[in-house]
Amino acid sequence: AMGTAGLVMPSPGSASEASDIDPNTVTKFICPMPLPRVLQPESSTYTTDYYTIRMKEARKEVLPGRWTTLRTFDGDFPGPVIKAQTGRRVVVRQINDLSVVTSIHLHGAHVPQSSDGWPMDTIAPGGGSKTYTYPNEQPHANLWFHDHAHHVESENVYRGLAATYLLTDDIEKGLNLPKGEFDVPISLRDAHFDHAAELVYTMGDRARECVVANGKTWPYYEVRARKYRFRLFNTSNMRFFSLKLSDGSSFAQIGSDGGLLAGPLQTTSLALSPGERADIVVDFSQYPRGTHLVLENGLAPTPDSPLAQVLQFRVTQSAPDSSTVPDTLRSLPTLPAPVSERSIVLQSDETGTDRHGYIDGKVFDPDRVDSEVQYGATEVWTVTNANENAPHNFHIHLVQFRVLERNGKPVTSGPESGLKDTVTVFPGEVVKIQATFTGYRGKYVYHCHMLDHSAMGMMATLQVV
Ligand code: C2O
Ligand code: CU
Repeated sequence: AMGTAGLVMPSPGSASEASDIDPNTVTKFICPMPLPRVLQPESSTYTTDYYTIRMKEARKEVLPGRWTTLRTFDGDFPGPVIKAQTGRRVVVRQINDLSVVTSIHLHGAHVPQSSDGWPMDTIAPGGGSKTYTYPNEQPHANLWFHDHAHHVESENVYRGLAATYLLTDDIEKGLNLPKGEFDVPISLRDAHFDHAAELVYTMGDRARECVVANGKTWPYYEVRARKYRFRLFNTSNMRFFSLKLSDGSSFAQIGSDGGLLAGPLQTTSLALSPGERADIVVDFSQYPRGTHLVLENGLAPTPDSPLAQVLQFRVTQSAPDSSTVPDTLRSLPTLPAPVSERSIVLQSDETGTDRHGYIDGKVFDPDRVDSEVQYGATEVWTVTNANENAPHNFHIHLVQFRVLERNGKPVTSGPESGLKDTVTVFPGEVVKIQATFTGYRGKYVYHCHMLDHSAMGMMATLQVV
């Protein structure tokens, strides 16, 4: 193989040339935040809803008054929402009209391997198609689907291939949480635009400094003075958010990746790493009409960084509100006793022009089996971030897991006490998680969900036998 030593490679920083759009010059809060379109099934039977989605290029107004070329699900950015119910199957035929391969993964879902979006199980560009079957035999959760084709997933997701999938069940429906127009999904991510407002993609780029919410850069959203439920998705490749309201008010976190928490958690901040979701209820009834409130990001590099703001809420008028957030949201499954343990080490090397991601010292090889798990087994995995500076997170396909410990401290309450499929592992941290591998046998993956890292190789295989 050819070495890279003699090649002139762009350094990651060089992407922010003078010609790129300077995030500080983008006027904030002038575009309303749209809601994603709800996709309608093409046909339905007693058991199943059938959908067809066409992946295609589309141009959208992501920056105010400017147009950006995107890789989309059905021409939408973010993609349309699929609304599913536990106990009812969803079948999605994905047609790939893009010029790159794709493989669609339903993140957080419990599905057979053939429908999981295995990185090598790709859909050919130029009209190839594949039909995915989602049994929905799991409790309600805020899921999302995105590309997972080997090595190109990070660019494909960055260029738009992400959409939400809201799975509900009778427990969730039985609660009197804010509903209808007061139940709002929000997909958050960052972006880097060149002078022509096209997205710049370079692996590990640190110049993604615009914040995009539901496809608009720094939008505003008009709310009534009452409670709202926001389902937040971090669809960024690399960006971590720590969200708070600009007046420091508290709000209730009611759910995480795998659905509702046992009970609401009053908090003033919310951490969300790439791939993670949070369900929150914000009560705007405490604000006079006309109040402008900003959703801020405490993880911005500096307080005056453009990344310090996410979107603006504008309180327009009062509204009746009979919704409630009960003290008990659901009962979480009890933890079975584990039968085996495993340790996982995450490490990236981004010092040179040759960037690599490792799990247990190895880059991803789809033909290798890294972890063989007995069907039905409950395992404890100890996940360590061996980097001193780079954060990582950890996502396992097929299962929802529980976080047992973070740095030796038991996790029994708080935002990580519910069902999780992705967990943050900051530099030097050790996180213990527990999962039970039931439902399907076959080959799946686990990886860092910072998609530039997984594309660099920080991914490994799991075989359930
Ligand atoms: Cu969100 Cu392996 O995926
Ligand atoms: Cu990582």
